[in-house]
Formats: sequence, structure tokens, C-alpha cells
Amino acid sequence: MEQTLLTGSANPRLAEILVAELGTPLSAVDIDRFPDGELHVEIQESVRGHDVYLIQPTSPPAEGHLFELLMLADAANRAGAARLTAVIPYLGYARQDRRVSGREAVGARLVADLIGAGGLVQRVVVVDVHSPAIEGFFGAPLEHLSAMSLLVESVRRQATRRSVIVAPDLGAAKLAERYAKLLELPVAIVHKTRLSGSEVSVRRLTGDVRGRTPIIVDDMISTGGTVEAAVGTLLSEGCEPNITVVASHGLFVGPAEERLSTAPVRRLIVTDSVATPQGLELPLEVVGLAPLLAEAVDRLHNNRSLDDLLTHA
Ligand code: R5P
Repeated sequence: MEQTLLTGSANPRLAEILVAELGTPLSAVDIDRFPDGELHVEIQESVRGHDVYLIQPTSPPAEGHLFELLMLADAANRAGAARLTAVIPYLGYARQDRRVSGREAVGARLVADLIGAGGLVQRVVVVDVHSPAIEGFFGAPLEHLSAMSLLVESVRRQATRRSVIVAPDLGAAKLAERYAKLLELPVAIVHKTRLSGSEVSVRRLTGDVRGRTPIIVDDMISTGGTVEAAVGTLLSEGCEPNITVVASHGLFVGPAEERLSTAPVRRLIVTDSVATPQGLELPLEVVGLAPLLAEAVDRLHNNRSLDDLLTHA
């Protein structure tokens, strides 16, 4: 079966690097808007009988990028694609995986339902989703890739024997344990409470950070509030003012740049799952996801196991 790769407008640069890795060209897609603002998408080449991979992170603006993904999936299906895999390097809405107050929508479930609607998409590939349990929201098989094998080498370059791996909240504790095991370093955990979408507070810290250089690990940086709060706690507990932050997804929205540039963060390591905002003045190191995505797409196309690429590996 012929392989075809398509991309929406969320992160075309990543899609271009990915096709260069695979040696398969990107099929042309026309994406525009009608005068009333409605989206219109059209695939410019035949995909009839093809094994189609649709690359699109649902990064901000999440609704627009999600709808583009759905429209492209519909177009590919109507154009006769034999099999369609949605490759979503960053899955937006994943943090809304349960109700907190009781009168909220469960956005992650709704997004999973929309992606699965009508059985257009036969398989979904995601990278370091906020909550692994989200797999259960999808009817289609979900391949949950881990970017850790790509990120860990950059982290290793920053690490010394005096480093400590820090989870900035309980949700990141398992991730921190995995980094700590690979790098043979101790772990500290910040106990965070979220006050609002952009504000958090810290209740306490578990572990010893005095005189150590922290490496904060998380799935994503959005407004930088979590990192800012963790840094404040680490400094007040006597860590060295030389902090590395590593996260799979760097959204850098709202006050993120200001918060992160005022903290003594010497290195910020993220992947290119989300297109990095232009002109960001931060000590950023961007690690490319394309080798991991290319390997996953190639193995799926050739019906080979993805086991060692997945988060549980
Ligand atoms: C939340 O639990 C996540 O793992 C991140 O810590 C959080 O979403 C980052 O968001 P922000 O940068 O806005 O604090």
C-alpha cells in the first residue's frame, strides 16, 4: 500500500523534517477560509487506496487546529484513503481529563470522541500526553510515544553529580523517577496546588535540594506558572541558582517568557512538537521529534511493533 503524509497548518516545519527523515514527500493540501471565516480544505493529490498519515498537533489555537485535523481526516476518507492515522505530536485539552468542580466539561474525552467520530481515523499517535489514562477515551488504538529517549541526552549534558531531578508536581513524579533512574540521580517532588489556569501555589517539597543543581522535568510548559512556583520553592530550600527545565511540549503562552526569564533557569529543553513562538528570549534548546515520529510512522506502515518507542517502555 502506498504511503502518504499530509500536514495541517499547526507545525508544517516538523512535518517537513519528518518527511525528509522518511524519504516520502508531503502531499500538497490547500487550506483556506471562505469570506465568512469557514475553513475549507482540499487534498491536491490522489490518496485513493493509500496508507495516510496526517500530522497535526492540536496546539494553540487548539480549536482551530483540531478542526483542521478533522476536516483533513474527512477529506482523506472521502478521497478513498485505505487507512488513516492521525499523528498528533501535542494533544491539546489533555489536561481536562476529569471534572474538578463537578460542573465542567471533560474536554479530553470530547476531543477523543471528535477525533474518533465516524471511524475516519483508524489509529492515533500521540507523544507524552498529560495523562496516560486518556488512552481509554479513544475508541481507535492509541500509540503513546515517549520523547524521553530523545530528551535524555540533552539533559545528561546539563547534569552533574550534584544534580537532583525535580518533579514540579505529583503528576510528574513518575517521569522524574524515570529520568532519575537513567541518570542515577536523586529525586525531589514539589507538592503543587493549581489555583487557576495560570496560577499555582506550592504546599511543600519532598527530598533534599540544598547545594544541588535542580533539573525540573514535566510533560509541558504552558504559562510557566508551575516552573516559576517550583523554582521559588527550590531556591528557598537552598538549591544552587542554576536550574535546568525539561519538558516534552513548550507552549510558552501568556506570561511564560517573563516568568521564565526572571527565574535563574539556565537551560530550557523542549521538543518541537509545538511550533516555538517567534523571538522568544529564553535559553531554549529544541530537540527534534522527527526521528521518533519517522520511526513510528515507518513501523506502522510496515506493521512492525512500536513497543520500545512507547511510554511504558
Ligand atoms: C500540569 O499538571 C502539567 O503537568 C504542567 O505542569 C502544567 O500544565 C504546566 O502549565 P503552566 O506552565 O501553565 O504552569
